[in-house]
Amino acid sequence: MVTEEIRKKARILRDKIADADYKYYVLAEPDIDDYKYDMLFKELSDLEKQFPELVTPDSPTQRVSGAPAKEFRTIEHRIPMLSLSNSYNFEELNDFDSRVRNILGGEKYEYACELKFDGIAVSLVYENGRLISAATRGDGFKGDDITQNIKTIRSIPLNFPDAKISDAEVRGEVFIKKDDFLRINQQQEAKGGKLFANARNTAAGTLKLKDSRQVAGRPLNFFAYYIFTSQARLSTHLDGISLLKKLKFPVNAKYACAKNIDEVKKFCDSVEAERDGLPYEIDGVVVKVNSLTQQETLGTVSRSPRWAIAYKFKAKEAVTKLEKIVLQVGRTGAVTPVAIMQPVFLAGSTISRATLHNFDEIKRKDIREGDYVKIEKGGDVIPKVTEVLKDKRSPGSKPYPLPKVCPVCGHKLEKPEDEVYYYCVNYECPAQNIGRFIHFVGRNSMEIEGLGESILETFIGRGYLKDVSDIYRLKDHRDELIELEGFGEKSIDNILEGIEGSKKKPFDKVLFGLGIRHVGERVAKVLSDAFGDIDALRSASLEEIRSVNEIGPKIAESIHAYLNDRRSSALIERLREAGICLKKEKSASVASNENFKGRTFVLTGTLEKYRREQAQELIESGGGKVSSSVSKKTDYVLAGADPGSKLDKAKSLGVKVIDESEFEKML
Ligand code: IVH
Repeated sequence: MVTEEIRKKARILRDKIADADYKYYVLAEPDIDDYKYDMLFKELSDLEKQFPELVTPDSPTQRVSGAPAKEFRTIEHRIPMLSLSNSYNFEELNDFDSRVRNILGGEKYEYACELKFDGIAVSLVYENGRLISAATRGDGFKGDDITQNIKTIRSIPLNFPDAKISDAEVRGEVFIKKDDFLRINQQQEAKGGKLFANARNTAAGTLKLKDSRQVAGRPLNFFAYYIFTSQARLSTHLDGISLLKKLKFPVNAKYACAKNIDEVKKFCDSVEAERDGLPYEIDGVVVKVNSLTQQETLGTVSRSPRWAIAYKFKAKEAVTKLEKIVLQVGRTGAVTPVAIMQPVFLAGSTISRATLHNFDEIKRKDIREGDYVKIEKGGDVIPKVTEVLKDKRSPGSKPYPLPKVCPVCGHKLEKPEDEVYYYCVNYECPAQNIGRFIHFVGRNSMEIEGLGESILETFIGRGYLKDVSDIYRLKDHRDELIELEGFGEKSIDNILEGIEGSKKKPFDKVLFGLGIRHVGERVAKVLSDAFGDIDALRSASLEEIRSVNEIGPKIAESIHAYLNDRRSSALIERLREAGICLKKEKSASVASNENFKGRTFVLTGTLEKYRREQAQELIESGGGKVSSSVSKKTDYVLAGADPGSKLDKAKSLGVKVIDESEFEKML
């Protein structure tokens, strides 16, 4: 029997979890640690398991639930989801303003200005205080039912905290942050999966996944920008925004009320200046007449409201001629087609090359040499070919042929059946060889500074480097190296010093540096944690490797094959002789450190010795937390060179500010 007391207990647990989610995902100011959170969650799931009748659709345990959907139901929007008309310059904004002024006939009016998020518009319906459905925009009148997938987004409230509002429709944008997009694509690439063109497509693709468990693993975010409800007296758009905040929705902090169109323009300029530094993609500013009565007076024409307009930033898109396609061979032997284009200037830089990723992409987009193509630059600054202008194609053009031999060594290419890449399987291929060296010395592997591509090429050409273990023998050739043209004692000693320093790199970096196919940074870390050292990993069976969490069959096979290969075994022995770390060590910084334990840090500015991720790793391994914004709960702000507004905020709140040397003392 479920007693009132048990019900109450479940309610309290749910409220606590919802509150923790809000503080973590919306305010970015968590006030309980992961362990406490997990305990609350476990307590609630145990209780619900014991008394299944307690489970409500808005319980946090239901964020990921249910069997994968076969297909999406359609949901009709109660109020159509309109689109916005666009403007591309200030004259067009003036025209919009004149139309508004004419229709309002001398009334005073003001504008609400917001960011135009480049994501996917969704509508969330709440009834009796609970989220009951969520839909995509679809054709504006009806969209796909994506309720289960939306529920996985933990910044979206599953219920309303305010009893006064129980029924409402909330609209906003689901998006993926720029760096998360890059990471997802790296993972896709490592798996040999399909690449997403940009963060927006990734968000769209994720929302359309049939299995909400898979969605839960993708970092979706949400900003709300609209609420319809008859239960609150709202007179302006910005009243709606305030209500959304009160209902604990994530609302972007950057918006403004503009008294006139000149103030709107100022807002547009300031946003455009900040655009590249934002962690998510925006493609403009949305300008809305603030008064809801005036919105009604202005009305709608052909599916766009007359009371709103999008001011779109200058296109990060250009058209150019694709002169030829060249083939690059990477360290794993994967052959990547690269477009060589007539140089064009696009969003701050001149572009003449863009990766075409693989031959499936070329085929799918039917990209041919001599075509005119559209190129786009996302917030990640990597240019992509997005479209072929087929009407500009010359009549004689032919589809790009699939490659048969390696463009570098002439060896026959092979294509594994379940992959999109063609591989040169000649281990001695010079392109693969230099690729292995570049990867090994790279920032995320052994991080040997001063040993760049051209120096590596010189040393390889002179016979000093056959495999990466030879890097550690360069010191035996110091006298010869300093005599090489373009080098001297100082430069060689710097390089040698960098090489010696890299011996301190932890095992997982070494493992990543080996460049085993499908072993990215994350997998290397997982393997290092699971096996502890190279010998345990080497003697593990395929089954044992495969049974490690996060390691799929393809990855396992690749690792197993690599470690059982004679050549790699010999390489590993040479690395061991050179004194490279082949064992996971519990270094001082990994152990919990009283100076960090339970403390919240905020990082701002650039540190001299540590990259942001490194500093974060050190703080976290000492038992501390890193938060993205300063609040009263912040214990320390670690400020480097050129600190941002976080430093001012810290000072105004009286939060302790430390510099790099104080940070090192704490370490
Ligand atoms: S208001 C009629 N506000 O832009 C009002 N839309 O072209 C339309 N969007 O489908 C929505 N940021 O995906 C509004 N701050 C914002 C927005 C925004 C992005 C998108 C939304 C919509 C499209 C309209």
